[in-house]
Amino acid sequence: MTQDELKQAVAEAAVAYILPMLETDTIVGVGTGSTANLFIDELAKHKSLFDGTVASSEASAERLKKHGIPVYNLNSVDSIRVYVDGADESDEHLHLIKGGGAALTREKIVAACSDEFVCIADESKLVKLLGDFPLPVEIIPMARGHVARELVKLGGDPVYREGVVTDNGNHILDVYNLEILDPIALEKSIDSIVGVVTNGLFAKRSADILLLATKDGVKTLK
Ligand code: A5P
Repeated sequence: MTQDELKQAVAEAAVAYILPMLETDTIVGVGTGSTANLFIDELAKHKSLFDGTVASSEASAERLKKHGIPVYNLNSVDSIRVYVDGADESDEHLHLIKGGGAALTREKIVAACSDEFVCIADESKLVKLLGDFPLPVEIIPMARGHVARELVKLGGDPVYREGVVTDNGNHILDVYNLEILDPIALEKSIDSIVGVVTNGLFAKRSADILLLATKDGVKTLK
């Protein structure tokens, strides 16, 4: 199976998993990226079953609207029943690295507001130790130099993601060579640097369930 076929399989599995949750007042949180896009396309087949969505990026909101699926402002909904999103890496504890698509801040906000976070990924994303994928950090533009120096003190090699402006008008540093032995502690340390908006470690609020597409079928990790 190709990686695209694995992503399609896990998108279908995610819709099957959340189907029992879909009622006329259900709000679904929707993530960002190529796997989330396939999930959106599958979810659209069931749009009459639920109320609408909250999206973690402008790109996902646009795709949802093209399907005729309502997209609500997060501040206008009471609760999000389930959030479905991809990841760049997951360890066996379902601690994640996210933000390859620069949507990490809104993704973390939607995840924080959701009753259940379902991560969807192909098997290439499951790792023993997080950190081969450079950790995205969203920063206030004027703080770039300061944040970069602080990240070096933490042992990382930050690289400015040229030309990228997030949906929130901020910039991204991708941090290479971090030794992520304690993802919860590192997430907290990076968040405490002045000028950091969010970092791409989803460890304090990890995924609740990982649907992992493998050549032998979609596996469920909890
Ligand atoms: C977006 O900012 C990311 O967090 C994505 O969820 C992550 O990069 C996974 O994307 P793919 O599904 O395209 O691999």
